[in-house]
Amino acid sequence: MPVSSLHPLLAQRTSPRSFVSDDVLRPDVEHRLLEALRWSPSAANTQPWRVLVAHRGTPEHADLVAALTPGNAGWAPDAAALVLLAARTTADDGTELPWAVYDTGQAAAHLTVQACAEGLAVHQMGGFDADHVRVAFGLPEGVRPMVVLAVGRRDHPARLPAHLADRETAPRTRLDLADLLIRPVARVDRAA
Ligand SMILES: Cc1cc2nc3c(=O)[nH]c(=O)nc-3n(C[C@H](O)[C@H](O)[C@H](O)COP(=O)(O)O)c2cc1C
Repeated sequence: MPVSSLHPLLAQRTSPRSFVSDDVLRPDVEHRLLEALRWSPSAANTQPWRVLVAHRGTPEHADLVAALTPGNAGWAPDAAALVLLAARTTADDGTELPWAVYDTGQAAAHLTVQACAEGLAVHQMGGFDADHVRVAFGLPEGVRPMVVLAVGRRDHPARLPAHLADRETAPRTRLDLADLLIRPVARVDRAA
């Protein structure tokens, strides 16, 4: 089934590298992105995600850019904002929150879908130095930096260097659904 048969918010979501480099993230839009994160489901409603929004041009943005891998640092700084998501993996009493990483990923997905509804693009990045981020923002033990999101308005791929423009315009691929199924879906025939 082609991706175009899905809801447009899902069908049109991609992870671009070309962002409008003089765009800003408006406060009302930013607020809705953070509310989407806040209203995400979590195990026992523990809400273990923690977030930092760094607008282009701020010291926080410079700190996040410094933590990116060279490949990501080549394009991600153009986005209007970089958003750090961290997972609080231990509770106040020191017990482990076993779903914290799962919950934080799901919160990232909620933020991403809201961003798409706002006409923005999100590119998630695991390619960053977590220790750099931990020190730069004074993250305590038990709060694990998970991902940095580039958030902004998509620009034309032609403004990227050739090797990145090629990746931007390459056909998107996925495993076949059959490869994802632990077992074929079974049905009970209710016709009789
Ligand atoms: C947890 C996570 C980490 C990722 N890390 C990077 C990264 O460091 N650099 C990058 O260019 N893309 C990164 N991506 C983007 C994926 O490569 C991308 O989602 C995937 O190729 C599918 O493409 P699509 O999002 O356009 O459908 C990451 C995505 C996720 C969810």
